[in-house]
Amino acid sequence: MKLKLPAPPVPDPLKPAPRRPEEPPPEGVGGAAKEAGKSVVDWLDERTSLSGGGRWLMFRKVPKGTNWFYTLGSATMFAFLNQAVTGVFLAMYYDPSPTRAYESARFITNEAFLGEFVRGMHKWGSTVMVILVFLHMGRTFFFGAYKYPRELNWVIGVVLVVLTLVMSLTGYLLPFDQRSYWATVVAMNINGTGPLVGPYLAQFLLAGPVFGATTLSRFYSIHMLLVPGLIVALIGFHLYLVAKLGTTAPPWIKAEPNPKLREESA
Ligand code: HEM
Repeated sequence: MKLKLPAPPVPDPLKPAPRRPEEPPPEGVGGAAKEAGKSVVDWLDERTSLSGGGRWLMFRKVPKGTNWFYTLGSATMFAFLNQAVTGVFLAMYYDPSPTRAYESARFITNEAFLGEFVRGMHKWGSTVMVILVFLHMGRTFFFGAYKYPRELNWVIGVVLVVLTLVMSLTGYLLPFDQRSYWATVVAMNINGTGPLVGPYLAQFLLAGPVFGATTLSRFYSIHMLLVPGLIVALIGFHLYLVAKLGTTAPPWIKAEPNPKLREESA
């Protein structure tokens, strides 16, 4: 017999205080602000019924033994959000044409307001994201979280790792200085020697048989449109599966028989 857990209750801070319509709202700015928040939530919920979905997503039982290693997935997501936000600001000044790219990157660092800070956050953030995604992958591997019924989430994760690395590769070219140019030439030469698809992949990335004037704009569109779009969609699906299946307990936690469940299924 399948047991259905009861729906979690609406949390108290979100419940409007019981009051007759003619009663005045609570006194003081703080009280009025609190009530306003609740009325906005109420107003939205009456029209969208989204609170049910919100409760489904947020109120979950977590297994015994859940520890700090379980925060690595959220940390990776935070690193990705940092990349998305700082990337939007960089895109306001960056120009992906071969003659203007280097100068626009120099402008961001030396002249734009907080430009050096935002560029630094994006550059260091990319390394942080790569490290975190591998640590998170290691956690799910060593805790056996890739096993039934979470295989699909593991496969989505593998695609996310590849996409994260594609972001690093395509982003590295964008400053268009000597280092980024020649590093990309080397990377594309290695890529071109891959079995079967290697040469086609290199040709697609270079937008031609060799590094040419259109290579930079191809890298830019992959870096800021194609791959981030895919990553957002896949993270959404990844998190849906985490919410639906729940997380695994650490391998050293032994399952305890629940006599109540046994009684009910008898
Ligand atoms: C952009 C990259 C990624 C993000 C933002 C992300 C996010 C998350 C989050 C928030 C969780 C739930 C909390 C946790 O267990 O840490 C999770 C769980 C999970 N992730 Fe990821 N993840 C990413 C990449 C990966 C990769 C590369 C793999 C493996 C190849 C992977 C496999 C899994 C699995 C199997 C679970 C379920 C864990 C369990 O049931 O205990 N994820 N992910």
